Amino acid sequence: MLDVSVTPRAIVRQLDDYVVGQDSAKRVVAVAVWTHFRKIARSRAQGLPLEKSNVLLIGASGTGKTLTCDTLARILGVPFVTAEATSLAQSRYVGDEIEAMLQRLVDKAGGDAARAGRGIVFIDEIDKLKAGGGDARALSGESVQHALLKIMEGAQVRLGDGRYVDTSEVLFICGGAFVGLDRILKDTHGYGFIATSSQESRQILERLNARVKPTDLFAYGLIPEFTGRLPVIARFDELSKPTLVRIMTEPRNALYRQFRDLFAAEGVELVVEPRVFEQIAEVALEYKTGARSLRGIFEELMSPVLFELPERAGARRVTFASLFAEPAWQA
Ligand SMILES: Nc1ncnc2c1ncn2[C@@H]1O[C@H](COP(=O)(O)OP(=O)(O)OP(=O)(O)O)[C@@H](O)[C@H]1O
Ligand SMILES: [Mg+2]
Repeated sequence: MLDVSVTPRAIVRQLDDYVVGQDSAKRVVAVAVWTHFRKIARSRAQGLPLEKSNVLLIGASGTGKTLTCDTLARILGVPFVTAEATSLAQSRYVGDEIEAMLQRLVDKAGGDAARAGRGIVFIDEIDKLKAGGGDARALSGESVQHALLKIMEGAQVRLGDGRYVDTSEVLFICGGAFVGLDRILKDTHGYGFIATSSQESRQILERLNARVKPTDLFAYGLIPEFTGRLPVIARFDELSKPTLVRIMTEPRNALYRQFRDLFAAEGVELVVEPRVFEQIAEVALEYKTGARSLRGIFEELMSPVLFELPERAGARRVTFASLFAEPAWQA
């Protein structure tokens, strides 16, 4: 099922090609996925039910949660779909939406329902499923949580064409920003009163304090049964300026690489000096949407030059030295 050469470390190494930073989250996710597939093999061999450890990703918008799941599914070659908890809550019949989501998973598996049953489902914005409240006609967040619980546990879901998908071996990854969580953590934990002298015990206490407990998630309206099904928690850090710069330049399909290829195809070398990436990162930090705004800013910078590119016969290179200066064309 999962190749023996696929170890958590190998998974992280492959994630590194696409997801910058987030080292601890990548490790947690890699271990969770590896364990998941190992457990499936074991439960099948022994004929025991699978005890799943679904995963919760916590982190601000644009920090790489979806990217990580997406890349993971690609590395492992398993079918993968994403859904937003909020749109499940807006539908009249959550069952229909869940069925549609699993139908998409089957489509991703090339129509093979059994293969879909070993896929990954990512449900984002789980922190917006507050119990009660909201639009009276919409479903309450709590009923969506109950519906999700059922498929997370493992259920036979009937599709439109009469076939069934068994979700008991599907790995569910939930995601959410959980804005303000750190404040809650500060209020609910406190190992600070234990006097410690050594650096080592300090670090252990800090780690314990940083751990998210299921009870912390109740504040967001998640019901205990739901948080209980998400025993593995990975936290995505806010992206710093240097990380944003690396995101534009380092990944396999980094923005800079994409545009350099685009220019190269027209016989022109694109040069963007490091200073420009720093300026873009500074602007992106202002927008507070993680790495999400990088593309927009970068494309805006490139747009006037792309407009002229095909007509610049004889140009060999174009150089950007500042976000606020005209680029220089060289023959
Ligand atoms: N750590 C990262 N490494 C590389 N690229 C990243 C990283 N974080 C974000 N990006 C880039 O930003 C885009 C948005 O990231 P992604 O969709 O993973 O955010 P998210 O954490 O799922 O946010 P949201 O909570 O809003 O769904 C990605 O397509 C990717 O290009
Ligand atoms: Mg996302």
